[in-house]
Amino acid sequence: MKILPRTEYAGEFAVPGDKSITHRAIMFNSIAEGEARITNALLGEDCLSTAACMRALGAKVEIGEDVVSVQGTDKLCDAECYCGNSGTTMRLLTGLVSGQRVNVTLTGDPSLSKRPMERVAKPLRLLGADIDTTDGCAPVYVRAAKLCGREVDTASASAQVKSALILAALGADGETFVHESIKTRDHTERMLAAMGADIRVLGNTVQVKKSRLKSRDVEVPGDISSAAYFMALGALLGETLCKNVGVNPTRTGILTAFDRMGVDYRLENERTVCGEPVADIRVKKSRLKAITLTKEIMPALIDELPVIAVLCAYADGESVISGAEELRIKESDRIKTTAEMIADFGGSIMPREDGFVIRGKKKLAGGTADSFLDHRIAMSAAVALMASEKGGEIKNAECVNISFPGFFDMLG
Ligand code: S3P
Repeated sequence: MKILPRTEYAGEFAVPGDKSITHRAIMFNSIAEGEARITNALLGEDCLSTAACMRALGAKVEIGEDVVSVQGTDKLCDAECYCGNSGTTMRLLTGLVSGQRVNVTLTGDPSLSKRPMERVAKPLRLLGADIDTTDGCAPVYVRAAKLCGREVDTASASAQVKSALILAALGADGETFVHESIKTRDHTERMLAAMGADIRVLGNTVQVKKSRLKSRDVEVPGDISSAAYFMALGALLGETLCKNVGVNPTRTGILTAFDRMGVDYRLENERTVCGEPVADIRVKKSRLKAITLTKEIMPALIDELPVIAVLCAYADGESVISGAEELRIKESDRIKTTAEMIADFGGSIMPREDGFVIRGKKKLAGGTADSFLDHRIAMSAAVALMASEKGGEIKNAECVNISFPGFFDMLG
């Protein structure tokens, strides 16, 4: 994909539906009683993988032009589930099927097959789940077993691990308490409560009892992780308005980063839709200051770090990002791939074990970078090139379809 530089950029954008919420709406309704309609669902490749897996397990999932309809089943069937590139599909499903007395094999593409799965298998075994991984990765084999509730910790600050445990607990006898050290995105807790699950949140602990879910229609808000690219372009080049964006406080770390960087932004039309806070986000061109980001904020902006790093590359001074070692196990090693991309465009960035140090410049030169088949690297590179001196090219740019089909058309 060739990107020409711009000196000004302005517009209004309706970014696609939230990926995390779409996965959950399809998955949870697939084991609920009744039929649900999901609107503004993200039809990116990852969420289509979830839909295909739920069909393989016996639910009826129909993808229409404007609506995804899901007819749940009370008895999942034994199946092989291909999760494609999607870590959320594989990790959440490992938990969900563990509690449903079925035998399931979960497989993925070459990138997903290298990502760690013991982080979910290990705590699930404490509930009695019978799971084997393949050298810690996929294929993951789940065999029917009786689960018993107890107290478990998510060793990593990961919403996927937390959600897997909560979903398994829906089928476990007794009570389960899931503790996490830093609060991560809570879409699972909100949606399950709305679907009639016996679930309570007490600080960083979630208490769950065996429950049968009732289906529920979901209107999915726009994804702040997708809006982030257009928000960044507003800050760098002009003014952007992203409409109907989910602003759940467990996801808005990028706004905290904006506060620290001195970005001029405003939330408009704030409201609640299907239990999730939603707003329009207006961002104006701003003089950017270097920032420091540490461990506690990471879960609230983890997917936005590549584009935040691009903003740091255009900020005054030296930014330091630490406590971000989770980036190493995303769709690519995002510490390495973000650093390579910014360096390829002439930026000054030093990767560290758990983050980066970025020395900002007024303008990056531009050039050619590879996405390494990572959707968020491709989109962050597009932002970096739009604001650069001479623009450039992104190799393997088609991977944006994982989370944002139509990204380049919307950018144009
Ligand atoms: C997600 C949780 C995060 C995030 C991923 C989606 C989710 O992963 O990076 O894109 O929907 O629960 P981790 O749980 O591995 O941090």
